[in-house]
Amino acid sequence: MEIKTIMVIGAGQMGSGIAQVAAQSGFTTILHDVNKEAVQRGLQGIQKSLAKFVEKGKLSAEEMEATLGRLQPCDDMAAAADCQIAIEAVVENMNVKANIFRELDRLAPADAILASNTSSLPITEIAAVTSRPEQVIGMHFMNPVPLMKLVEIIRGLATSDETYETIEALSRHLGKTPATCRDVPGFISNRVLQVMINEAVWCLYEGVATAEDIDMIMKLGMNHPMGPLALADLIGLDTVLAILEVLQAGYGDPKYRPCPLLRQYVKAGWLGRKSGRGFYRYG
Ligand code: NAI
Repeated sequence: MEIKTIMVIGAGQMGSGIAQVAAQSGFTTILHDVNKEAVQRGLQGIQKSLAKFVEKGKLSAEEMEATLGRLQPCDDMAAAADCQIAIEAVVENMNVKANIFRELDRLAPADAILASNTSSLPITEIAAVTSRPEQVIGMHFMNPVPLMKLVEIIRGLATSDETYETIEALSRHLGKTPATCRDVPGFISNRVLQVMINEAVWCLYEGVATAEDIDMIMKLGMNHPMGPLALADLIGLDTVLAILEVLQAGYGDPKYRPCPLLRQYVKAGWLGRKSGRGFYRYG
């Protein structure tokens, strides 16, 4: 299959990052969101990120212009008719994702591949709402997408070899290194990561140490580039909570029980960097 156009649904931090990388790699890239402002914010974020690459000499001004020229903001899902690959990156909620995949299935060409950037939701279940489960796959990028090298590829029960091979090749074309995982709750990345983040939140909740000291211990002690609480703020605390709930429901094991402090922060609207406050304050 020749891929010319990629559609990204959801223009938040992940969707805009994915759109940037797709456009930088030469694909016509349609960026859609239910919220028009999110698309505009996403495009501004892309522009800023590209400008940084230009400043650092990693991208020429002409390449930046060409990349921006390949990006098509759009508020109508019908644009899916023009894509060979759709990558969904909306909120971590099964009902919302299922509705989008029903729409994509109706609107995208019959041979188009429908991928989800979900952090933890079952690809098999998402695929089951479509009439083409063999063309549905998990394509899990890391945050921030333009900088992080990994794409975790998740094969649903019905995902075909052809779909898998196309997405593996596409990931490499986007400059990423693919690693493959079976369709289990949280896959590998978040099954392992979120337990650590949740444990760090429990430590804070129990007053064992300050947020700064918890993060310092993990940074300097374990050589992690970021502490778990700062990383949670980067991911978004609503997303962290949603993933822990998927893990808890999926494995039925109390070790995944989200810390009450995390729930309280999300209820307060303290979602991390994207809302200006989480375990730390921003802006
Ligand atoms: P975000 O909150 O920054 O963006 C979500 C976007 O989805 C918003 O702009 C919202 O308007 C849009 N949206 C909601 N419903 C929609 C609909 N029906 N149609 C179109 N757009 C809709 O969230 P973020 O962080 O970008 O996460 C998106 C997905 O990526 C989630 O599934 C998350 O689990 C996954 N993910 C997140 C990572 C992270 O570090 N934040 C890392 C890897 C995956």
